[in-house]
Amino acid sequence: MPVMDAERILAGQRGSVPRYTSYPTAPHFADQNGLAIARSRLRKLPAGEAVSLYLHIPFCDRLCWFCGCNTKHTLKYAPVEAYVGALITELATVRETAGSRLRLAHLHLGGGSPSMLRRPDFERLSSALREHFDVGPETEISVEIDPSDVTDETLTGLVALGVTRASVGVQDFSDAVQQAINRPQTFEQTRDVIAALRATGIHSLNIDALYGLPLQTEERLMATIEKVLSLSPDRIALFGYAHVPWMKKHQKLIRDEDLPGTMERFRHAALAADRIADAGYRRIGIDHFAKPGDTLAIAAEEGRLHRNFQGYTTDACQTLIGVGASSISSYGDAYVQNIVPTAQYEKAVQDGQISAMRGVQLNLDDRIRAWIIERLMCDFAFSFDALEDRFGYAARSYIAEAKIAVANDTFGLCHIDGNSFAIREEARPFTRIVASWFDAYLNDSSVRYSKAV
Ligand SMILES: C[S@@+](CC[C@H](N)C(=O)[O-])C[C@H]1O[C@@H](n2cnc3c(N)ncnc32)[C@H](O)[C@@H]1O
Ligand code: SF4
Repeated sequence: MPVMDAERILAGQRGSVPRYTSYPTAPHFADQNGLAIARSRLRKLPAGEAVSLYLHIPFCDRLCWFCGCNTKHTLKYAPVEAYVGALITELATVRETAGSRLRLAHLHLGGGSPSMLRRPDFERLSSALREHFDVGPETEISVEIDPSDVTDETLTGLVALGVTRASVGVQDFSDAVQQAINRPQTFEQTRDVIAALRATGIHSLNIDALYGLPLQTEERLMATIEKVLSLSPDRIALFGYAHVPWMKKHQKLIRDEDLPGTMERFRHAALAADRIADAGYRRIGIDHFAKPGDTLAIAAEEGRLHRNFQGYTTDACQTLIGVGASSISSYGDAYVQNIVPTAQYEKAVQDGQISAMRGVQLNLDDRIRAWIIERLMCDFAFSFDALEDRFGYAARSYIAEAKIAVANDTFGLCHIDGNSFAIREEARPFTRIVASWFDAYLNDSSVRYSKAV
């Protein structure tokens, strides 16, 4: 892809597009009756059905200025302890609404910083999960970790919960960038936390790194990547910093003039990705990397990769139940988001409610477009036969739409490859832009998104 073309593509109307962790995306969950949707879907689940759970912890003991997550800064532990009580109540309500025990395939604790939890709270969460769900040796339990939180008590808590996979936030190791994002974190601290996690028996580790951060130069980014590689994580997520100060007010603390431009971001992303791939990692989707034997790499090779609200996953469950403030559930034909403010969330839960607030029920057009967009984000292609196998006659007009998209594709990002629509290898950095061609909601001008690369 000539650099000139990259510049023109990114300067185009679709230089800002969703990250497509769902379709329709969260701003389009317009049905206010999320509670009724969630209840009806939970009641329909057969006893013993394998489901996944996402538990959101919306607290951090620091506030990084770049943060786009749903979280609140707190130096007191009492609100966190009270919130864990609400999570436990909601787990019981979910089980009661489903009417029977469900089998837990995957559990993910995200945030915020779940690593802030103290050991007794990990223990009572673990008991509640095992009381209401079937948890077995095959259940994958993953947790997001801010290394600055981790103490011996955290480690014993993680063991009590039965954690099998940890995701450690790094972002960037250089002092200048860390100051510009208010996130001090030394390499030594990170290295020691990773060694301690491994010593507890957690062998599957992911590290998050970011490009596009303020004051990040090529040298600083590449030095960070070298340090990340030296820690030999099983997976690496290399996200582009999403600067959305109109949504996340604290991002205004980051000076616009310190941010790299679009083309610099593009170049940095490519350099970092090439270095990680040269070190032997497989490229997974648009922003992940995994060692060749890792389950994510195997799933990608076999066309079994999925994308959900947490990003790329091997999780093939139809149902993902989101528990906690702002969590999103996916029921195959519907998405539901929980109440966002923690106080309101806790009140709803204590009143015996599932905290579902708003949602969307997918019609046939949504389901077909969701499938196409997920395959593009995971495989950079979709097969017309697979589309027809799944959706029958209805697939025809979407195949025609894909062919028209190729005919109108002035930059040559895509082509028809046999009986498939495919993104060209050199155009993969623009995958979100291509996915957006199949997004029927994108023309809603009231919603703003982050940069496409
Ligand atoms: C919930 S945080 C990870 C756990 C822990 N709180 C930490 O910061 O180490 C999840 C990840 O989201 C990514 N992230 C947060 N804000 C972001 C933003 N504005 N743009 C892109 N990625 C972001 C970071 O890489 C971060 O590690
Ligand atoms: S990046 Fe992690 S630690 Fe920092 S504010 Fe966001 S969720 Fe909290």
